[in-house]
Amino acid sequence: MPERQLRMVRPDLNNLPGIGVPAGYALRTYRPGDEAAWCEIMNTGIGTGWTVEKCREEVTGREPFLPDGCFFVTKSEEGVATACAYDNPPEGVNAAQVHMVCAKPAHRGRGLGRLVTLAVLHYMRDHGYQAAFLGTDDFRVPAIRTYLGLGFVPDFIEDSHRTRWSAVFAKIGELPS
Ligand SMILES: CC(C)(COP(=O)(O)OP(=O)(O)OC[C@H]1O[C@@H](n2cnc3c(N)ncnc32)[C@H](O)[C@@H]1OP(=O)(O)O)[C@@H](O)C(=O)NCCC(=O)NCCS
Repeated sequence: MPERQLRMVRPDLNNLPGIGVPAGYALRTYRPGDEAAWCEIMNTGIGTGWTVEKCREEVTGREPFLPDGCFFVTKSEEGVATACAYDNPPEGVNAAQVHMVCAKPAHRGRGLGRLVTLAVLHYMRDHGYQAAFLGTDDFRVPAIRTYLGLGFVPDFIEDSHRTRWSAVFAKIGELPS
């Protein structure tokens, strides 16, 4: 069986930092027709085969997708980063998933991943969710560092994940306090 993705949780949505948008960028939620822009972003960082049809079939056209919980950072109207809230909780938990966080390479290094993730967390808090969770991969160091900085912690859903997380932390370096 293939190994499961690493899991992180933010056990509550209290004390979220405020949202600040860097100069030259804007933050907005999903609008119908955003699929092409979403695919352009995803094809730079989460898989390579995203098409408008596949996006509708697997993401924007399916129940866990929350249009107002999907955020885009734009620059001169071009979508450059995105993340969404997914109403996909494990049974018995009032949590939502942070899903599909990605920024175009030319716009990385400016905290846009943090911005879209934080916008999703604010959305979740404002819509009555109590916690957030996400899946990620061992090699996604900038993403994991972003999530740690926003109060997510590893959720050891399998014994093997303790070893995997030790290796991740060895790569991550110290987080600013
Ligand atoms: C995740 C993503 C959106 C973050 O982009 P970003 O907001 O521009 O983030 P940055 O490049 O500024 O990096 C975030 C942090 O990781 C650090 N970082 C980046 N590369 C690193 C590396 N190789 N080793 C250690 N730390 C690293 C940065 O210094 C920054 O640290 P800080 O928060 O203390 O300032 C972007 O990397 C991306 O789109 N990746 C591909 C898709 C992906 O992996 N998505 C996550 C799916 S779970």
